[in-house]
Amino acid sequence: MIIAIDGPAASGKGTLGKRLAHHYGYRHLDTGVIYRAVAKALLDAGADLTDEARAVAVAMELDPEKFGNPALKTQMVGEAASVVSAIPRVREALVNFQRQFAADPPGAVLDGRDIGTVICPNADVKIFVIADPKVRARRRTLEARARGEEADEALVLADILKRDERDQNRAIAPLKAAPDAYLLDNSHLDIEGGVRAAIDIVEAVR
Ligand code: C5P
Repeated sequence: MIIAIDGPAASGKGTLGKRLAHHYGYRHLDTGVIYRAVAKALLDAGADLTDEARAVAVAMELDPEKFGNPALKTQMVGEAASVVSAIPRVREALVNFQRQFAADPPGAVLDGRDIGTVICPNADVKIFVIADPKVRARRRTLEARARGEEADEALVLADILKRDERDQNRAIAPLKAAPDAYLLDNSHLDIEGGVRAAIDIVEAVR
């Protein structure tokens, strides 16, 4: 059983993915952290984010044990991830790891931008999560402040819109709903409401 969750920045797909995986006893992969890990390694090395050869080399040597690093969660790393993720060879280098994760038993929930379209086009259930950009900016701002970071909501909104624009318009694996994805708008739902709506979708197709 493979559940694919895609959606724009700060739509709540990561939290939803984690909760769904927990509910069904499946493994969960937040694929955004993979691109974030590549971006952070380049930033730490002072390398150019558009240095293709270097980015591909970093992508091939990633250590999944480090995907839980809280330093990957910052706005700056997210923005940098959106730049490196537009490099086709970086994406290619990361496909096998994601497909292998999805295939291992007993089942998996993967969330990202291209899970239902490119990584797991045959996923059993595809959910495309959306939320009003202002709602997403508000949530991200509160999350950042809860981590002790300073966050200006207007700047967070601008960053989210810029990232969505880049993710939607890139030539390779752009952010878009698969034709067979269920649309889940959680603008007016809290986390529990979003989880319940997603479980209803999964149960309807299971
Ligand atoms: O979801 P998250 O904000 O952690 O993703 C960071 C960036 O990584 C996204 O803006 C996007 O450019 C990229 N990404 C991607 N494909 C995925 C997941 C994330 O291109 N499956």
